[in-house]
Amino acid sequence: MTNSQTAHRLAVVGAGVMGTAIATLAVGRGLPVHLVDIDAEKAGRAGESVRQQLRLAQLMGSLPRTGPTGELTTEGSTVDLPSVTAVIESVTENAETKVKTLAEISAAVAPGTLLVSNTSAIPIDELAGAVARPADLVGIHFMNPPYLIRTVEVIRGPRTGDAAMAAATELLAALDMAAVVVGDGPGFVINRVLQRMINEAARIVEEGLATPAQVDELFRGCLGHQTGPLATADLIGLDNVADSLRVLHERTGDDGYRPCESLLAKVAAGEHGRKAGRGFFEHGSTL
Ligand SMILES: NC(=O)c1ccc[n+]([C@@H]2O[C@H](COP(=O)([O-])OP(=O)(O)OC[C@H]3O[C@@H](n4cnc5c(N)ncnc54)[C@H](O)[C@@H]3O)[C@@H](O)[C@H]2O)c1
Repeated sequence: MTNSQTAHRLAVVGAGVMGTAIATLAVGRGLPVHLVDIDAEKAGRAGESVRQQLRLAQLMGSLPRTGPTGELTTEGSTVDLPSVTAVIESVTENAETKVKTLAEISAAVAPGTLLVSNTSAIPIDELAGAVARPADLVGIHFMNPPYLIRTVEVIRGPRTGDAAMAAATELLAALDMAAVVVGDGPGFVINRVLQRMINEAARIVEEGLATPAQVDELFRGCLGHQTGPLATADLIGLDNVADSLRVLHERTGDDGYRPCESLLAKVAAGEHGRKAGRGFFEHGSTL
C-alpha cells in the first residue's frame, strides 16, 4: 500500500447500486471506507454486496488480486461520521434529499474535508448552496460500476475551490481513476446526452417501431457501442433514469427530457432494471 492510499479515510453516504460499487473500488484499492445508509436494511446488506463485488472485480482483474484491501465499516446513519478525509454522497437522485444529506454531512466534518457529490444531473452549484463551505464541494460522476469503468466526469462548480480540486485529484489517483474535468450545468456532459437518448429509445419502443432488443442491436452493430441505450438504462436502474430525467426536465424546460409514459409505468411496476431482475430486459442475477 502506498502513502497516498493510507492518507485517505473515506466515507460513502448511500449504500445503493453506486454507493456499494464506489466502496468496492475504494477498499479494493486499499482505502478504508465507512459506508452509511439511512435505510438500516440497505446498510445491513451493504457489507455482503461489497464483498461479492470485490470478488468479482478481483476475478476479472479490474482490482488487484493481491495486497491488502481497505477496512469496510457499515452503519445505518448519516450524521455520525468518523474523522474522514473525504465524503462521497451517493444518495437517491432527488434534489431535496441531496440538499438535506449534504447539509448534514457538511455540519459533521472538519472544514477543508473534501465533499463529493456523485449526482447524475443536479448542478453542483445548486448543491453547493446547501453546504457550509461551498468551496469544499466537487462533483465526481462515477460510472456504473466504477471498478470496471476507470474514467470519471469531474465537475468543477463556480464556487469549487482549488484545494478541493487538488484533493479530488489526489483521491482519484489513489483510486487509479482517470478524470475529465468539465463545467457545471444540468446533466453535465454525459447525462445531458445519455438520458435524452435513453428516453427517446424508450419512446421508440412505446410507439411500436422496434423492440428493446432491436434498438440495442442497432446501437451495438451500427454504431459500435458496447451496450445499447436500453441495456444501459437497465444497468443504471430505471428509477434513477426517471429521477435524472425529471431533474433535467425541471431545470431545462426541454420536453425531450420529460420521462416517457412507458418508462414511468415500468418504475411504478417495480421493474427497475438489473437490480430488480427485470426492466427493458430480463436479468438473471442481482448484486
Ligand atoms: N445507477 C447508476 O448507474 C448511477 C451512475 C452514476 C451516478 N449515479 C448517481 O448515484 C446516486 C445514487 O444512485 P444509485 O443508483 O446508487 O441509487 P439507489 O437507489 O440504488 O441508492 C440510493 C441509496 O441512498 C440511500 N439514501 C437515501 N437518502 C439517504 C440519506 N439521507 N442518507 C443516507 N442514505 C440515503 C437509499 O436508502 C439508497 O440505499 C444518485 O445520485 C445517482 O443519480 C447513479
